[in-house]
Amino acid sequence: MSNMKESLAGIREEFDKSMEAVKDSAAAEQIRVAFLGKKGKLTQVLRGMGELTAEERPVIGKIANEVRSHMENALSDVQAKVKAEERAHKLRREVIDVTVPSSMKGAGARHPLNMAINEISEIFLGLGYSIAEGPEVELDKYNFELLRIPEGHPARDTQDTFYFNDNVLLRTQTSGMQIRIMENQKPPLKVICPGKVYRSDALDATHSPVFHQIEGLVVDKGVTMGDLVGSLRLFAKKLFGEKTEIRLRPHHFPFTEPSVEVDLTCWKCGGCGCNVCKGEGWIEVLGAGMVHPEVLKNCNIDPEIYSGFAFGIGVERTAMGRYGIDDIRLLYENDVRFLEQFK
Ligand code: PHE
Repeated sequence: MSNMKESLAGIREEFDKSMEAVKDSAAAEQIRVAFLGKKGKLTQVLRGMGELTAEERPVIGKIANEVRSHMENALSDVQAKVKAEERAHKLRREVIDVTVPSSMKGAGARHPLNMAINEISEIFLGLGYSIAEGPEVELDKYNFELLRIPEGHPARDTQDTFYFNDNVLLRTQTSGMQIRIMENQKPPLKVICPGKVYRSDALDATHSPVFHQIEGLVVDKGVTMGDLVGSLRLFAKKLFGEKTEIRLRPHHFPFTEPSVEVDLTCWKCGGCGCNVCKGEGWIEVLGAGMVHPEVLKNCNIDPEIYSGFAFGIGVERTAMGRYGIDDIRLLYENDVRFLEQFK
């Protein structure tokens, strides 16, 4: 019996010693298996219980239980301790210092085309116009038919169109918005419609298959060509400065009568002639005219009572002049080195 007492005391001592070195939960588990497992040291000693007398058994049993619970307590204490340390270590490792300066790029800037659209829109808002937007995927009847450009009309040829099918296309001009607006609202009307338009043009320094227009439409009683000229002069001066003048050249659009193309004093040379205006002193910026009576009729507006004017401003042209951009492609490449110059 004293043999077993000694063995138990020895195991306990050995156990305590190995516990001193425990650094993580895996090591603690190894010790548990070595001492308390099925083939563990304590289990092996207790196998010898059968050889003890009836008196001896409870005495040794008591000691053995004490040793067992000593081991179990020590193990669960140490497990709790190393787990807490492991967790604290993990937290330290994953800590995020929110005060470290960010490596992210700074805020962007407005695109020059949007800047131009905003500037132009501001001018017309100041003149009492409202803003409307319409679909880029448009019906043939709005883009052409109701604007007096029927199938086979030569005006269609100048606008090489991206068709989805016979009736649906990418709009080639924002003029379809004239119809959409007049179908839904009755005069007096004073609206601008900025937006993207598409034509099957090859990309070069001055052409792009996607570009922007701002359509303008005014319909009321007694609107005249004089109102159109006055409004466009005011627009030109507000955008490019007081000295800017406009020049009207007769033109043809099927949906306006009379029709004009409108030039502005060259923004680079002020009219003397330079490389930007090709020696002309003028730069073409928009098309305009008096809304054709048949277009009014197409929208159930009586041309005997109402008249109106419409214009379509080329945004790219205007933006390039306003901000000194010499190649239209720069507007679509989205090179940050270019865009950052407009901050
Ligand atoms: N839609 C015409 C174009 O794209 C411009 C225009 C608009 C002409 C409004 C007259 C009136 O060329």
